[in-house]
Amino acid sequence: MLGIFDSGIGGLTVVKELLHRHESAGFVYLGDTARTPYGNKSPETIRRYAVEDARFLVEKGATTILVACNTVSAIAMDQLRETFPATKFFEVITPAVSAAVGKKIGVIGTRATIGSGVYERQLKARDAAIQVISQACPLFVPLVEENWMHKSETKRIARTYLEPIRRQQVDSLILGCTHYPLMLDAIKSSIQKRVKIVDAPSALLDIVEKEAAHELASGDQQYFFTDPSAATDAIASRWLERTVNGIRAELK
Ligand code: DGL
Repeated sequence: MLGIFDSGIGGLTVVKELLHRHESAGFVYLGDTARTPYGNKSPETIRRYAVEDARFLVEKGATTILVACNTVSAIAMDQLRETFPATKFFEVITPAVSAAVGKKIGVIGTRATIGSGVYERQLKARDAAIQVISQACPLFVPLVEENWMHKSETKRIARTYLEPIRRQQVDSLILGCTHYPLMLDAIKSSIQKRVKIVDAPSALLDIVEKEAAHELASGDQQYFFTDPSAATDAIASRWLERTVNGIRAELK
């Protein structure tokens, strides 16, 4: 069975893509809404949280886990694979790197993800001539978690963060955080129309379909949150276009 986790609701962008392709696929989703955002925390804390999240999913029966969080993908994959050797993990960074095009690539993400330099390393390993323009956008995750995606204030904040990338005339912009597709309108209106926007969920699902097709069988779909609330259910239900009733998760 598939397990999917994120620090909050951002991983639902992966769930949306999964449901779009495999409507009845069984999975357990965990959003650590009590401790979001991870992106401003230290690597030690992010690793500890990631292990607790994965343990919850493994105990629920997950045999394959989609790490639907760039911050965890950037910081904690070694720790996860070491702690749960029998579990297959997929992360969101490599698929996005492969989907980006051009010689000038913009990357936006949380402070932890951008600070890790992982996108720059992977893009330059692909082609040393690629120029990477990175920008941390620490206010985006709380704006999404607060359902402020469509406010004019959010558009202004997006324009400020993205201005250096816009000026550099990039070919692609990698959304290096799974929360960001939820505020795509604000992001799109801040850069040139011709820029290819790369979001991880569809690139990730392409790989899962190839390497773990057996995990896409029909089954129960369960949503757990460490701090479930009516507001979280409302955003999740609107985004996924189906009713989500989050169940409380206790992590160990
Ligand atoms: N959605 C996450 C990511 O992809 C988490 C952001 C956060 O918790 O700061 O990075």
